[in-house]
Amino acid sequence: MKRNEPAAPTRWPVWVGPTLFLLTAAVIVLLGLLAFSIVERRWETQRPAIALIPIAEWEPDNAVWGRNYPRQYESYLRTRDDTTRTRYGGGYPRDYLEIYPHLTILYAGYGFEREYLQGRGHAHAYDDVVNTRRRDEHTPATCWTCKTTDAPRLIAEMGAAAFYAAPFDAFLDRIRHPIGCQDCHDPATMNLRITRPALREAFAAMGRDIDAATHQEMRSLVCAQCHVEYYFGEDNYLIFPWARGLRVEQVLAYFDDLGFSDWIHPISETPMLKVQHPDYEIYAMGIHAYRNVSCADCHMPYRTEGGVKFTDHHIQSPLLNIASSCGVCHRWSEDEIRVRVESIQDAVHEAKLAAEDVIARAHIDIAAAMQVGIGDEDLAPLRQLVRHAQFRWDFVASNNGVGIHAPQECTRILGDSRSLAQEARLGVARLLAARGIADEPRYPDLSIREAAQAFVRALRSDDPPALLPGREDG
Ligand code: HEC
Ligand code: HEC
Ligand code: HEC
Ligand code: HEC
Repeated sequence: MKRNEPAAPTRWPVWVGPTLFLLTAAVIVLLGLLAFSIVERRWETQRPAIALIPIAEWEPDNAVWGRNYPRQYESYLRTRDDTTRTRYGGGYPRDYLEIYPHLTILYAGYGFEREYLQGRGHAHAYDDVVNTRRRDEHTPATCWTCKTTDAPRLIAEMGAAAFYAAPFDAFLDRIRHPIGCQDCHDPATMNLRITRPALREAFAAMGRDIDAATHQEMRSLVCAQCHVEYYFGEDNYLIFPWARGLRVEQVLAYFDDLGFSDWIHPISETPMLKVQHPDYEIYAMGIHAYRNVSCADCHMPYRTEGGVKFTDHHIQSPLLNIASSCGVCHRWSEDEIRVRVESIQDAVHEAKLAAEDVIARAHIDIAAAMQVGIGDEDLAPLRQLVRHAQFRWDFVASNNGVGIHAPQECTRILGDSRSLAQEARLGVARLLAARGIADEPRYPDLSIREAAQAFVRALRSDDPPALLPGREDG
């Protein structure tokens, strides 16, 4: 070995130069392609709504919007799935009257005693309102307002008051579409927009300007166009009873001030209120609203498909998609989240059952008092207690999610509901005791729907059974 010989200068073989050149060129071309694809995808996701096909101002047809926004449209179409189930929710039409026979007593004399199914996805809204057994020839057009993208167009054409004042059936040939794109979006910009006058007017009544809402607020307010408590005023004008505020006591005080009732209860003759589905109001009382988390954050999480990030328009129970709906903010496992939600719902559900049992008995107690000749003067304050108890119970029972949107508030409301109904029952017991009657009325088996229904039918018949033992002639 020639140890001290200086190393010969390295000579690359002739092929190295051209190969390096070609490799570098290839890498540059690939990088260029990648960058182009990134830019293109980003443009695709963030594309301002330069609609490929212009969409008309009040276009009701989701498929037309879908040509420009296929991913959102395709995910929206999945709201057709009505087979999903969670412990308390999901898209399948659960029969509440079957599961909760007490409702037969609580809703006696009102449309909900005929049929009460769990709501399903937005794509079904048209069919479900047309086919419900609660609809009859007296149903006003107002009932279309929350079910169809055709409503904003008709309201724009004829004015809200004239639209609401018409009968439901007047539009059977002009309304064809379920809830969709047009309900939440401005077709020219795709910005979120409020299309229902009732929400706009409710904000004004509270002294607030809905046009000043932040983008994050809009992600809940588009839902608050429909997922709220409401009633029909003069000529069936749609009104959200928020002028005093959104809390259950404020809404109830609003109705009491108006002297408003939806129906007179046929068992206890109490002037009743039916609560619709105050999802926004209950949500507004919860920790997530307080921390500025919107409906869309949980019900419309982002999805990624082929590198494109977009808003999932398959609006459904977030428990069917926990990773995207909750996992973004909560670092718990999916199982932990599900167990946490279900245990909160179990507690609210139990409080709900306890309240509805006392309210059902309170109606029957008052009926028993009427049978032995106790007059309206004595019963009016007790009926007021039942009205207030059932309104509170209904505010929780009819809102979706079994208390999950504001667990503490729902538990509080149900506790108040139960005490008020209990107070009414005590009041009846005192009136009966003053007449020397110590017996309890005969209650039907409230755990069986048929028994509860037969009881209501018998009480409303020409020959109602005596509710207090030993008073068959009374
Ligand atoms: C923190 C997340 C979160 C927010 C925010 C939220 N929800 Fe929910 N929502 C849930 C959960 C969890 C359920 C329970 C689903 C179940 O029981 O399967 C639910 C249930 C529902 C349901 C019933 C769905 C079913 O399948 O039973 C409706 C309707 C609903 N929410 C509407 C709304 C509206 C409207 C808003 C805003 C005003 C809102 N939610 C805000 C998490 C949320
Ligand atoms: C135009 C009125 C309207 C708007 C706007 C609206 N909803 Fe609904 N929503 C409904 C109606 C009506 C149903 C019940 C449809 C049925 O049962 O046929 C429903 C059903 C639902 C359900 C039940 C679906 C299931 O599979 O259980 C959820 C969850 C829901 N809506 C959440 C939302 C959220 C979140 C928003 C806002 C991003 C929103 N909705 C906006 C009217 C509306
Ligand atoms: C119930 C209300 C609602 C309905 C109905 C609805 N959207 Fe959306 N949409 C939203 C919300 C909320 C967002 C998120 C907007 C934001 O945060 O800026 C959104 C976002 C979008 C975006 C922006 C890009 C993205 O994915 O975030 C497009 C495009 C879009 N929707 C198209 C549609 C189409 C097409 C339909 C009908 C098939 C539709 N939307 C129906 C509420 C709705
Ligand atoms: C955008 C963020 C965000 C999303 C999405 C979200 N949360 Fe939360 N959640 C919060 C914040 C913020 C709090 C307040 C507590 C805190 O600061 O940690 C909270 C609190 C909670 C709590 C405790 C409530 C209490 O009793 O104090 C529960 C339970 C919860 N979230 C469940 C859920 C579930 C279930 C989902 C999905 C359906 C969800 N969250 C989605 C942000 C979020």
